[in-house]
This record gives sequence, C-alpha cells and structure tokens, in this order.
Amino acid sequence: MAEVHRPAQQFTLRLRRYDPESGQAPYWDQHTIELEPHRSVLEGILQARDRVDGSIGIRCSCRQAICGSCGVRINGAPALACNTHLEAAARTGSDEVIEVEPMGNMPVLKDLIVDMDAVHWKKIRRVTPWLLAKQPVPEREYLVPRESMVDVTQTMACIQCGACVSDCLSMEVDPDFIGPAALAKAYRFVGDPRDDQQLERLNDLAQDPHGIFDCTHCFNCVDACPKDVDPMGQIMRLRRIATSDHHIVDRNNGQRHEAAFTGLVRDYGLNHEAELLSRSYGGNSWFGKFHPAAGKELLSSLPVVAKGLLRGKLDPRTAVLGHKLPKADLRSVHRIYERIEEREQRYELNLFITGYDEDLEPASPRDRSGSPDQPVAQAAAGEAAAGGPASGEADAASEGAPDLPSASAAAGASGGAASGASAGPAAEESGGAAGGGAAGSSPAHGAGGGGEQGAPSEDSSER
Ligand code: FES
Repeated sequence: MAEVHRPAQQFTLRLRRYDPESGQAPYWDQHTIELEPHRSVLEGILQARDRVDGSIGIRCSCRQAICGSCGVRINGAPALACNTHLEAAARTGSDEVIEVEPMGNMPVLKDLIVDMDAVHWKKIRRVTPWLLAKQPVPEREYLVPRESMVDVTQTMACIQCGACVSDCLSMEVDPDFIGPAALAKAYRFVGDPRDDQQLERLNDLAQDPHGIFDCTHCFNCVDACPKDVDPMGQIMRLRRIATSDHHIVDRNNGQRHEAAFTGLVRDYGLNHEAELLSRSYGGNSWFGKFHPAAGKELLSSLPVVAKGLLRGKLDPRTAVLGHKLPKADLRSVHRIYERIEEREQRYELNLFITGYDEDLEPASPRDRSGSPDQPVAQAAAGEAAAGGPASGEADAASEGAPDLPSASAAAGASGGAASGASAGPAAEESGGAAGGGAAGSSPAHGAGGGGEQGAPSEDSSER
C-alpha cells in the first residue's frame, strides 16, 4: 500500500530549561519546529537542539519506546518523548503549545535530564532485583508452571523509564517510599516460583515503614506507565500475598488496617471512618476502640477530626453511627463477600492479560477454560521478546495452559525470566534489574515493549 505523505507543519515547543550549575532559576524556552505531525516530540526537541540551540539537554537512545531513556513530562503528564506524536501532544497542550518538562520526584541534572541514579535506580537496588534461586540448582533447568510465568509477565514489560516514579504522590510526600517501579520489580521475583526468598522479601517490604503499605492507591502510576505494567496493581498483589498467604503482621499496622477496612465494608456496606482507626489499632471488632493503642491514636487524630467537622467534610451523625445502607443493598454486599470467601483459591487477575484471543472461536470463558468462573486469558507479548526462547519456560509458555488459549500464552515470558536466574550480581553492578532481556533488540517486540533491562545502557546519550 502506498505510503501517505503528510506535509511538515510547524509546532511550538516550550521546554523547561534549568542548569543547576549556572546558579540561574529554571525558565521556559520556546522554539518553533517543523516536522510531519506523526513525528515524535523527541524528534521535535532534537530538531530544536540541532538547528537552534545545541545546549538543550535531553536523554535518549532507542527512539522507539524500548530503552526508557526519554521519560519527560509532556503537557504536565509523564510520557516517553519518542512515543508521543507531535499532533497528539499539540492537541492536549493549551493553545496547541507543547510543553515539555523534566520528570518529577527526581533531581534535575540539566534541562530535561533527571538523575535516575539518585532516586529510581537506588530504589530498584533496594528490592534485590535478581532471582535468589532455589537450591539445589537443577542439572538442566527449572521447570516452572506456565501460569506462574504469565503471572509475572506484566512486571517484565517495565522499561525502567521512571514515569511512574515521576508521578507518585506518596513519593512526593515521603521521598523514602520504595516506590511503584521498584515494588513492581519486587513482584517480578516474589511471583517467580524459582525464587527461594519469597517470605523474606515480603517480610522485608511489609516491615519497612516506606514499603508496600506506604502506597495510597492514587492510581497515578497506573496512568503514567507507557507499558501498562500497572505498578499499583503489583503493590496490591504483594500486599495480598504478604497478608493473606503468609499472614505477615507488620509493625506499620498495614495488615490490621486492611483487615479493619475489609471488616467495616462488610458490616456497613461502606467504610466507617470513625471506626477505621480504632479497629486498625485495637482489633477488628466494635470493641477495638477500647484498646489503649486505639485510644492513643484517636487522641492524636482529634485535631484532624475537628478540622474535618469545622470544614463540613464530616457529618457528625455518619461519623459516629456509620452509614445506613438499605437492607437489600447490604445483603448484596454480604453476598459478594460470601462468594469470594467460599473460593478455595484467590483469583489473581493479571491486568496485563487482556480479553480473549481473537483468533479463537468466540465462546464463553467457562467453555474455553473448562473451569467454572476461571477467566480465560490472553497474555500480551512482554519482555521476553528481548531474549527469545531461552529455556523450557518458553515452551511451557507457548504450549498453552488449560486455562489459557494456547495462541495467547505468554509470548515472551522466557527471555528475561530465564536469564534472571543467572543475572545476580551483574544486575546490581549495572544498577538495574536482573534478567537479561536486552532492551532495544528489536522493534518487533511489539506491545510489550522492551522488557526487563538494566540501567540505561552506556550508549544512551545524554546530550
Ligand atoms: Fe524513548 Fe528509548 S528513546 S524509550
């Protein structure tokens, strides 16, 4: 088919400039560039740098959304500059001006380049981002259930661009929070059945005051991620395994808080704010409020409660008595709880697993899976493309599990996962993740993107 030629047109770029060494405050710098509308914002910035001002600082390498080097904020939202079309960016900018700023939550080195080492990579190292293999190491290879590899595929798609870190509200308040990217990476190994330290990893992340219970469910990381890794979802999965499977009771009160929240929604149909704090500290029952620890916490939060009342954010009656749902509605809530609790196994629906395989006959999930209520899943191609079929896992992934249509099983679960077993110290040295899924090996990696990778490679240019 003949290629449609689109004429070049002018776009206005406003770049946030800042050189900490200059002693000057940050400022906006505006340039007009001329490119076809389907070209990327990165190309626009590079044109401005090449033609007008060679001192513009931008980091990039692959230019195809694989290496994760070009993370910036475009019109206020985190994005990969190489993966954002000029016309799309102009549509969302005010007066069609495309504003480009450095990512948030990380110190600016120069203009659009942030210090990933100071924040992002430091946090990634914090979670021991390599496989601590079970011993003894098998003579040939580990045999891993295919569902397990599908399960971690979503986290493997991370290209370490830092977009989620940039927009994490919890990290803004608590810079020590381990953060969405590192915790998603932690799930990569917690979910891997070859790892020997699942309990130790979870205990560590649960007991850390800046660990898994520091996330406030703001969903910013979910929106920010250009690879649909759903970091918040991975954090919630870490929590569920820590609390429901390993019954870890953490010193941050996270487990008790979660239990109290769940109990209150069951009892009242909605959260009962006045009881939440006391139950979190004093035990998950009406009597919880009489526990000394609960009283102490209640006393310390009285100023906040008073402020809420004064500003009309709290209705005193509802605050004290809780919500009153119609009985039928409350029964429906109870039925949901019963339905879920009667299941022998918890369903973990990996959101990276999308819909149904279009190549297969349309049928109900039940028909295809052979197991009632079991969602039939299609795994998107992920990290693995990077490493290619590497081991038995690859075969396992492609053979098709009983619960997964064969054609859609984790197309790429093999590469990084398999190499993760041997990455170990090397990954640490590179400041990055275990697993050798080489970013940027081929644009054909498709939707999943570049996959698991180490720190931006040395050939990344910081210009
Ligand atoms: Fe944008 Fe590699 S240059 S992701």
